[in-house]
Amino acid sequence: MSEVRREILCRCCFVFEDTVREVIQENELTTVDQVSYHCNAGSRCGGCRKKIAELIEEELTDE
Ligand code: FES
Repeated sequence: MSEVRREILCRCCFVFEDTVREVIQENELTTVDQVSYHCNAGSRCGGCRKKIAELIEEELTDE
């Protein structure tokens, strides 16, 4: 079986990494708080906020 495994980025809110990338791109987000507002990721324990910041950095530098 070739099942594509999607990475969960935020376990608290069950948000996938590709979902976070999408909201960053679609809304041109530049801060972790903005991402939390749009998809809830990072709004609870905060353990994934560093990862969200890394994704923002990647999306900003990935033209
Ligand atoms: S893992 Fe994202 S807020 Fe807890």
